[in-house]
Amino acid sequence: MNKRLIAIYNEIPAGTGIIDVGTDHGYIPAALAKSGYKGRIIASDINAGPLDSARRTAASENVSDRIEFSLANGLEKCPDSGIDTILIAGMGGDLITKILDSADWETVKKCTLILQPATKSEILRYFLIHNEFDIFDEKLVKDAGIVYPIIKARLGTAEPYSDAELYAGAFRYLKDEPLYIEKLDDQIKRLRIGIAGLESAEHTNESRIAFIRSVLRESVELREKL
Ligand SMILES: C[S@@+](CC[C@H](N)C(=O)[O-])C[C@H]1O[C@@H](n2cnc3c(N)ncnc32)[C@H](O)[C@@H]1O
Repeated sequence: MNKRLIAIYNEIPAGTGIIDVGTDHGYIPAALAKSGYKGRIIASDINAGPLDSARRTAASENVSDRIEFSLANGLEKCPDSGIDTILIAGMGGDLITKILDSADWETVKKCTLILQPATKSEILRYFLIHNEFDIFDEKLVKDAGIVYPIIKARLGTAEPYSDAELYAGAFRYLKDEPLYIEKLDDQIKRLRIGIAGLESAEHTNESRIAFIRSVLRESVELREKL
């Protein structure tokens, strides 16, 4: 497993069962099975090729009998009981949001969510905190030059997030994490480029520019607090 997958794996709680949605290579289910994870393990993917790859990984690690393989779109075949952890990693935050939004919400509400968006994490954080979920922890991991968030959420009253934190992650969880500085510096750079692009467009979108400016201001303030 690469650094990103190891960091995700380390966040998985002991429990009654986990579904890894979009498992692809199936490394995390296989590692859980090998480590003696007691609960049910479901490796799920929308595509047959990746699911076969997960089957091969399990076979090579001699844990095929510990993992259930499910060909499914998102959480459509997730059992409504017995699973208490949902893992969705390595996809865009918009796709993870779509998968959660399309799922049986009563099933999702019973679970701890371990989510690792590759892009657009602000969409996912916004969705979670406006849909009965509390983000109770965040981590950052840098792999192959990219800083990735790992978001942990469960049913509860959401702590507020500023717009800048929706993009970068919450200050309260990440203030002691050196990668947060890198994340915020990158965010500030991207927001400045975004504003320049919007301002030079033929038809300027003033409300969008005002919003991005405000996210930029908040991001600079967060950065100055570190
Ligand atoms: C980039 S891979 C990520 C693999 C792994 N989770 C990781 O973090 O390294 C994305 C996987 O998600 C699967 N996928 C995409 N959309 C999906 C959906 N709606 N439901 C289930 N799996 C999906 C793809 O087939 C692919 O195997």
